[in-house]
Amino acid sequence: MRQPLVAGNWKMHGSRAENASLVRSLLDLVRAESRAEVLLCPPFPYLWEVGRLLKDTDVALGAQSVCAEPHGAFTGEVSAAMLKDVGCHFVLVGHSERRQIFGESDSLVARKFVAAQSQGLVPVLCVGETLEERESNRTLAVVSRQLDAVLSVSGVGALAGAVIAYEPVWAIGTGRNASPDQAQEVHAMIRGKVAALDATIAASVRVLYGGSVKASNARELFAMPDIDGGLVGGASLKADEFARICAAAD
Ligand code: PGA
Repeated sequence: MRQPLVAGNWKMHGSRAENASLVRSLLDLVRAESRAEVLLCPPFPYLWEVGRLLKDTDVALGAQSVCAEPHGAFTGEVSAAMLKDVGCHFVLVGHSERRQIFGESDSLVARKFVAAQSQGLVPVLCVGETLEERESNRTLAVVSRQLDAVLSVSGVGALAGAVIAYEPVWAIGTGRNASPDQAQEVHAMIRGKVAALDATIAASVRVLYGGSVKASNARELFAMPDIDGGLVGGASLKADEFARICAAAD
């Protein structure tokens, strides 16, 4: 049985004061006996402080990106060891905003995946197609290519300790989520692709859906057989909304 995971990706939002109030409200609202695992991914400068606020709770801490290199002259970058040092357990790799706005290639994402695992962080590998790719029937090919980039470097064994997030680019921040059937189709393809290499890993790897997840659509998305929770952007900045999404994953 896969434990559902609901991750809040705060992106470049928040302040020390806003974070403290968001986390406090969230900790009041997220049910302690919840079956779902909950993860918060604040911006780098707030990781340590948010980590302190989450201390002795069941809510995990993650970062939004990581450098592929272990250390050295890489101005502006943050290493996996640093993330581990400030209390992170997870890190997003290959978020579509990193791929699209900051030009991260499949091979760079694969190296970041390796860097994260080398420090014991759980990578959340984000994959997903653009609208143009979907409309030209290339969704499965694109997602498959993004997965292959990691599989060819790390092997299927690496997925045993990882999370995959399917996030159609056209659904991110647009208010237009993939329908449960559209998402399930891609999730099943992802799991099938992993199963062709290793059935046990395929059965255990968590595949999250991301892209305009809200309290009003979370339950029907999470009810699909291959959707194991969500990666939530905008709606993770509202404690009440995010807590309802977490409850929907129970
Ligand atoms: P959204 O973002 O929920 O605001 O669509 C999801 C994401 O980018 O992870």
